[in-house]
Amino acid sequence: MAKEKYLVTSALPYANGDLHIGHLAGAYLPADIFVRFQKLLGNDVIYICGTDEHGTPISIKADQKKVPPRKIVDKYHRRIKSVFEGLNFCFDNFSGTARPVHYKISQELFTNLLKNGYITTHTNNQLYCPNCKRFLPDRYVEGECPFCHSIEARGDQCDACGKLIDAIQLINPICITCGNPPVIRETTNWFLNLPKFSDKLEKWIESKTEWKDNVKKFILGWLKSGLKERAITRDLDWGVPVPLENAKGKVIYVWFEAPIGYISSTIEWAERIGQPEKWKDYWFDKNTKLIHFIGKDNIPFHTIIWPAVLMGQDDDYILPYDVPANEFLNLEGRRISTSRNWAVWVNDYLEDFPADPLRYYLAANAPENKDCDFVWKEFQEKYNTDLANILGNFANRVFKFSKIYFDGKICIPSTFSNLSNETWITAHNFAATQAKGFYQNYKVRKAIKRIIDIAREGNRYFDITKPWVEIKQDKKKAEETIFICLELLRMISIVLSPVIPESMKKLRKMMNLPDKMLWENIKYEFREKIVLGKIETLFEKIQDEIIEKQIKKLKGASNIPEKSKKLIDFEIFQKLDLRIAKILSAEKVKNSDKLLKCQISVGNKTKQIVAGIAENYSPEELIGKKILIVDNLKPIVIRGEKSEGMLLTAEYNEELTLLVPESDIQDGSKVL
Ligand code: 2FM
Ligand code: ZN
Repeated sequence: MAKEKYLVTSALPYANGDLHIGHLAGAYLPADIFVRFQKLLGNDVIYICGTDEHGTPISIKADQKKVPPRKIVDKYHRRIKSVFEGLNFCFDNFSGTARPVHYKISQELFTNLLKNGYITTHTNNQLYCPNCKRFLPDRYVEGECPFCHSIEARGDQCDACGKLIDAIQLINPICITCGNPPVIRETTNWFLNLPKFSDKLEKWIESKTEWKDNVKKFILGWLKSGLKERAITRDLDWGVPVPLENAKGKVIYVWFEAPIGYISSTIEWAERIGQPEKWKDYWFDKNTKLIHFIGKDNIPFHTIIWPAVLMGQDDDYILPYDVPANEFLNLEGRRISTSRNWAVWVNDYLEDFPADPLRYYLAANAPENKDCDFVWKEFQEKYNTDLANILGNFANRVFKFSKIYFDGKICIPSTFSNLSNETWITAHNFAATQAKGFYQNYKVRKAIKRIIDIAREGNRYFDITKPWVEIKQDKKKAEETIFICLELLRMISIVLSPVIPESMKKLRKMMNLPDKMLWENIKYEFREKIVLGKIETLFEKIQDEIIEKQIKKLKGASNIPEKSKKLIDFEIFQKLDLRIAKILSAEKVKNSDKLLKCQISVGNKTKQIVAGIAENYSPEELIGKKILIVDNLKPIVIRGEKSEGMLLTAEYNEELTLLVPESDIQDGSKVL
């Protein structure tokens, strides 16, 4: 069969925060599974991603922390990349949009649209904060939504109704930096003339008969209400500069250039593999299927604005072939909220578990057609039932039996009973046909169900044939049973590998099968005889304690008001000796990114404390600062350094901030 060609992307995550399980379930894990599946089929597929490094949330965070945006972006790029590595993602390239290669291609696409008459300029009114002396695009301003009247709408979008907003339409806007109401001031910006693309877009979308219903409905609704010109430049300094003489101080709107990151990351990939022109083999070949995995909040940008940008180019770029968008994942019955810290952060998860349990549960419980809920207890139960009890137990009994009675060496039988044949054929059909169809149509939940059914069948077959009885009467019969069971395990090791690659690698190793596999091997992998390798437990059961710990962590760290929060007596509170201290000097603790060692003065004594604030404060900026400490904590040693107290901070949006006294009070003063 001719190879198919795929260019698969996952929405570029913003480089201003860590990844949580909701992100994974939306645009990332389904894509990684799809790509692994296509690679197994032997298709020509590249998987492209990177971080989205512009936009007002990033520049706002940088303003607040008084650091250059690039510092924020670099930090989160590193963190996000390492989380993906920890989860065994198989990106061919993971780039970032603040790189020269991205600036160049974004400016080229912009200029080309302008030349082709798809970009217009308009001088119009924008919100301007006289206090901060800046325009207030997008998230620099908040107010009441003109459509649904939610009072927390931002200048670019309302989270409550999902509508895109022009900041100027907000009712009672306020500058988010200083809290003052903005004034209106004229400025010139460049607009994408979307109405010019209406007919082309409509035809294109109508041809997409196979698209998920939720995606199509959304777009047709947009088209019906009439496309409007959309501003694609902003009065900001962080972003891709508008490549025009008369556009000083303006950058290209992040949502215009972010999807171009898919192209720039492909260019970076081609350069990295030493074939700089190779990106064109994908972007300009009509046979390439361009598949964008996204969260549902990204639908309009990927199905209207982005295709319009591509349609308006001289070069013959391909258009998205499919845009599978998942619904949302909730957490323990509530909407995930980063501001309230109601989330499971993937880097936290990876401190306690390997990648596969999360990959498995998120895939088996994926919000493919409706919102789903992540529940820690269900995570434990799903993993323990499907993987430890059904599949793990099947592998374990078969391997053990093989080792005990056949020294791990199983000959290939020359004849098979009807039951053996039927079992093999059923398993083969579940794997090769059914699971394949489900994977191909992004129905991973169903694929997984079918694959676990193979292990169920295997257990049933083992129970019916009773090899522990057969071995006493007819050793060949027992060998036949074990052979069929090993065949089922071999098939599973291939078809479940897109979901839990590490565990399936381990399973194959135990059967002495190569790491590298192909879908077509489901039918046959040549071996003269099966010789098992070293046998280990395939899936360790997840114990209650570790789940309790996660639940505690989630509830303890979130700032959702809890009715059942434990109250303490005043006497307990009184035991804390809280004091004002002054930082005399600070330096980084060796081999730690997070810890600073500070010498502090507390009235007439000096002491040393170790604090986890190195990612938020540099040693220099701390010197002379008055802070709040717990003075009577028992000293402890952290990373070889003595810590004689605890510095108090508050956490918001994953950032720590010091608690400081309002007036310059004497250090040593008691906090009451
Ligand atoms: O919603 C988001 O997280 C965006 N950063 C997604 C961008 S996708 C693409 F356009 F780059
Ligand atoms: Zn302001």
